[in-house]
Amino acid sequence: MTQQLSIGILGAGRVGTAVGRQAIRAGHTVRIATGKPASEIQLLTEVIVPGAQAVDKEGLRGSDIIIVAVPLHKYRSIDTDVLQGHVVIDTMNYWAPVDGVMEEFESGASTSEVTADFFGDVRLVKTLNHIGYGELEVESQPSGAPGRRALAVAADDDDAKQVVAAFIDSLGYDAVDAGPLAAGQALENGTDIFNGRHDAEQMRSLLDQCHRVLSNA
Ligand SMILES: NC(=O)c1ccc[n+]([C@@H]2O[C@H](COP(=O)([O-])OP(=O)(O)OC[C@H]3O[C@@H](n4cnc5c(N)ncnc54)[C@H](OP(=O)(O)O)[C@@H]3O)[C@@H](O)[C@H]2O)c1
Repeated sequence: MTQQLSIGILGAGRVGTAVGRQAIRAGHTVRIATGKPASEIQLLTEVIVPGAQAVDKEGLRGSDIIIVAVPLHKYRSIDTDVLQGHVVIDTMNYWAPVDGVMEEFESGASTSEVTADFFGDVRLVKTLNHIGYGELEVESQPSGAPGRRALAVAADDDDAKQVVAAFIDSLGYDAVDAGPLAAGQALENGTDIFNGRHDAEQMRSLLDQCHRVLSNA
């Protein structure tokens, strides 16, 4: 049986609302915030994510998991105080044509290593960045279904990774361990993992290939 979690979502756009709906279907409690007061997203939340609660960003504190679903070019505007001490999922992708060229993401490090440094004392987990917001609800399958889609999960903190893996499973996807946060490069924009749909076996094979390439670089 799925463990009910309190899920906080920062960002009420395409990704934040799709993840919110799917989390509610899975039986979790969901609170959603943006940088604006809760009153400004209350109606949107009621209509687009029925069952979720709109809160001020401070109202995300205490969530079992906080999901950051904000455009990457805005990451420096995030109130990082709210995230401190939490398990945080980074869904953000860097794509220069949309985000503009950002020097810190041009170095070849994983984008989540950069955001982890900025966020501070958080247990950051990269996942949910490599599934389209429009796919998340329609591609979900119960555990054990043949060909169930897999999502890779990268983090330095193993306990946080476990919590997030169980959450991913509850959303209808096999969670595959991608290794440390640095290995999150393997699921970034432009990679085979980012561009395709893979079951767990295929995902493990792609991750093995990426790890070999990265360790020889
Ligand atoms: N598109 C996809 O299928 C997909 C899939 C996986 C991951 N991603 C990644 O997910 C991230 C979000 O994408 P999206 O398409 O959901 O973006 P979006 O539709 O533009 O929504 C962004 C949300 O973030 C909020 N926001 C902006 N700055 C904020 C801040 N400082 N603090 C709190 N909230 C803030 C916005 O609120 P306001 O409107 O009030 O500014 C808005 O609710 C991106 O990095 C994207 O690459 C996208």
